[in-house]
Order: sequence, then structure tokens, then C-alpha cells
Amino acid sequence: MSLRSKIIGKKIILREITSKDALTLLNLRNKYRKHFFDSKKISLEEQKKWLDNYFKKTNDKMFIIYHKNIPIGTIALYDITKDKRKAQIGRLIIDKPYQKKGLAKNAVLTLTSHALKKLKLKKIYLWTLGENLPAINLYGRCGFVKSGSKLLKTKKMIKMELEKK
Ligand SMILES: CC(C)(COP(=O)(O)OP(=O)(O)OC[C@H]1O[C@@H](n2cnc3c(N)ncnc32)[C@H](O)[C@@H]1OP(=O)(O)O)[C@@H](O)C(=O)NCCC(=O)NCCS
Repeated sequence: MSLRSKIIGKKIILREITSKDALTLLNLRNKYRKHFFDSKKISLEEQKKWLDNYFKKTNDKMFIIYHKNIPIGTIALYDITKDKRKAQIGRLIIDKPYQKKGLAKNAVLTLTSHALKKLKLKKIYLWTLGENLPAINLYGRCGFVKSGSKLLKTKKMIKMELEKK
């Protein structure tokens, strides 16, 4: 694991992505694309373009999730709006062999705690497909509450948010 920006949780470590992660990101994204609003398959070239654009941004932080030194998934904090002190959380994937072990919960809690305490944000929100009950339940167990819904190109989307107490 490189020395690039890391956030340490109880069961996981979050390491900010680099250009070397293109293939890992591509494989995870394509494997689990049906769980996301934008579910089209992408090519390595498209993934690299996405990364080039990512590195130009200052309001987007994406991480590879490690468990016992093995890369097992991804998570991101994006649309970080410092003046409004809010951000969106998402791009969450835990690869199948590592699911149902509490690792997603630990990744979400680690990143939200970093966002609220270190980045001093006040609100973290997300949009998920209304049919994605594992994700909705998971975020619910991390303290997020449902705050809205909308139809986006016939897909029902649920908004959830977490506010600093
Ligand atoms: C949604 C997702 C991230 C959840 O990841 P996960 O690591 O399995 O989540 P957790 O382990 O924290 O919790 C999942 C379940 O395992 C249970 N669990 C947690 N620790 C456990 C343990 N030690 N033993 C058995 N079960 C456990 C939780 O209670 C939870 O049960 P529930 O779904 O009935 O509420 C994962 O399913 C995934 O990557 N899905 C595909 C992509 C996706 O949908 N991403 C979200 C888009 S918004």
C-alpha cells in the first residue's frame, strides 16, 4: 500500500486512489454496475479519462477500501462544498467474498467520522436506487435517515442524510 493519504478504521483502511488503480476501479465498477444509477459498462480508456478528470478536482475524494492489506472495495466523498459544509457519500462497493462482515459499515462510519470531525462538515447525503435495500439498510445502520425521493429516468431514487449532532 502506498503512503498516499490514508484514513484508518477499526477493520479497514481507506487509501486515496491513484492512476495505478484504474484496472481495480474498472473491474469493481463493471462487476457491480447494476446497483448504480449509471449502469453502463465502461472501457479501460473511459476509466482512465474519468481518473484524469478526477485528479483535476479538489472536491472529490475516492478511496480503495483495504481489509488485512487486501483491496476489497471502494468508497468516495464527493461534491464536497466547504462553504455549505456538506458532501455526498457513495461509489460504495464491497466485493462479494468480503460482504456481510460489517466492512461496509466500518468504511462508511470511518469516512463520515473523518468528514464531520476532520473536514468539519455538517451534513453528508447520498442518493441510492430505491430497490437497493442492502445499501439503504446499511446507511440506515450508520445513522442516515431517508430525506427524499425522486424519479430519474423511470428509476426511483432515495435520498438519505446524516447531520452532525
Ligand atoms: C451494499 C454493500 C456495500 C454492503 O456491504 P457489506 O460489507 O456486506 O455490509 P455490512 O457487512 O456492513 O452489512 C451487510 C449485512 O451483513 C450483516 N453483518 C454485518 N456483520 C456481520 C457478521 N460479522 N456476520 C454476519 N452478518 C453480518 C449486517 O447486519 C447486514 O445485514 P442486513 O443487510 O440484513 O442489514 C454491498 O452489498 C455491495 O457492495 N453491494 C453492491 C454495490 C452496491 O449496491 N453499493 C451501494 C450503492 S448505493
